[in-house]
Amino acid sequence: MTNEEYHTFIQPYADASEVLLARLNVLKHNLYGEASGEPIHNIQNRMKKKESIEGKLRKKEKEATIMNAKDYLQDIAGVRVICYFVEDIYNLVDSLKRQTDLIVIRECDYISKPKPNGYRSYHIIVGVPVYCIDGMEYFPVEIQLRTMSMDFWASMEHRILYKMERDDREKLAAELKEYAEHLVKIERRFEQFSVGNAVKL
Ligand code: GTP
Ligand code: MG
Repeated sequence: MTNEEYHTFIQPYADASEVLLARLNVLKHNLYGEASGEPIHNIQNRMKKKESIEGKLRKKEKEATIMNAKDYLQDIAGVRVICYFVEDIYNLVDSLKRQTDLIVIRECDYISKPKPNGYRSYHIIVGVPVYCIDGMEYFPVEIQLRTMSMDFWASMEHRILYKMERDDREKLAAELKEYAEHLVKIERRFEQFSVGNAVKL
């Protein structure tokens, strides 16, 4: 895949991502109305780099072509939504699912069912309609929704362990799992102090 092919290929994915970001920002402002706090702390987005696309296709034993990237990868466009409370995540997912022009391609709730290493997040891949002169096509965007503590854990784990070779891997993994369990407890405590349980001054 040439640089030029890559840039042409990712453009509609970037457009789909922009559409979704706009929708998430609307929900950030109006999901709970003015009196309550906002559900979203911050939103990050990224487009998969050319080298990562090629690497991931190679790992799947596919030739690194544009056609294969379109057929086999659904995380070309990625959006990460960092929320305050777990409840915010489920409310946002429900709202997105009610947007009838979006299609749910795949979803995975690693919050109600964390991964064995302790990783938690809600993953949902949505098809976003992108209109051009020839008509409309859905482009997938992978959304990861997490609380701040899930993001802290996942970012650190990604940095020091995820897909890494280390001699002390097992020991570190066990320690990280323990921290993940601590964070669940802390998060639940904060949840008890949420706006639903308080009166704003
Ligand atoms: P990848 O090949 O990594 O994209 O995984 P996948 O396509 O099988 O899908 P999955 O939904 O499991 O993971 C998608 C993304 O979620 C990853 O690229 C990471 O950003 C994140 N993720 C999933 N599992 C973990 C984990 O154990 N630790 C961390 N830090 N991130 C994870
Ligand atoms: Mg991925």
